Amino acid sequence: MSYQDFQDPTVAQAWDADNHSRNPSRSEQLDMMLTIIADQYEDGKTILDLGMGTGLVEAMVFQRVPQAQVVGVDASAAMLALAHQRLQSHASQYTALIHDFTEIATLKLPEHAYQIVFSVQTLHHLTDSQLLTAYQFIDDTLEAGGLFLLLDRIALDQSGLFDVYQSLWARQDKVYHSQVYGAEGMTFAEHQMVVAGRGDLPTSLERHLELLKQVGFEAACLHLQTNRALLVGRKTLINE
Ligand SMILES: C[S@@+](CC[C@H](N)C(=O)[O-])C[C@H]1O[C@@H](n2cnc3c(N)ncnc32)[C@H](O)[C@@H]1O
Repeated sequence: MSYQDFQDPTVAQAWDADNHSRNPSRSEQLDMMLTIIADQYEDGKTILDLGMGTGLVEAMVFQRVPQAQVVGVDASAAMLALAHQRLQSHASQYTALIHDFTEIATLKLPEHAYQIVFSVQTLHHLTDSQLLTAYQFIDDTLEAGGLFLLLDRIALDQSGLFDVYQSLWARQDKVYHSQVYGAEGMTFAEHQMVVAGRGDLPTSLERHLELLKQVGFEAACLHLQTNRALLVGRKTLINE
């Protein structure tokens, strides 16, 4: 789905109502990410979410870490309108800003100690150079020792492995009652057209890690299921 599509209130509603059928790994990877946030969060510090969407992840953060403070950013007013409805009872704990990450260098955040930055299913809308700029921005924003967590779609860029991914998508659909097989295309060429048609620009796992390390993070992939990954970057003290 192109990121401009999220500006449409009908698309925003539909995405909010079903974020599982095309991504059955989401619940478990979110649970992993939230487990890390709950263990790491220090009272008084701020969490930054790049791609706040409809506030689904914030609602889970507040459930796990009731005292958390969050700044969420998103380009879509329609998505953020749903987030405000969802998060009414936590109004004093979050700030939402509208900004386009293709121009992330001009994003002005409120002054806080940002200890954790996360981004869920959002940064795959950026080109390679925009992603590098985003990683630089995240590194600059985080305090020393801070943590970046990325949960996102990863590029499937090796045509000779496409049928292997298909086996696992079919398995996922059986186990999780999802609809991934077919939706990702029936051949590698079709898959590339589907991805381009959605306006997605996913990056390979290797390239994510390379870019994260290039800006100074200690980085690793914590969990990978087919083309969905949870990555972590720690801002090293040396970059302080
Ligand atoms: C699939 S939704 C995920 C929302 C939320 N992170 C979640 O997981 O529930 C992707 C979100 O990224 C936002 N987004 C996509 N491209 C963006 C960009 N260039 N700048 C800012 N937000 C963007 C969309 O508006 C949308 O809210």
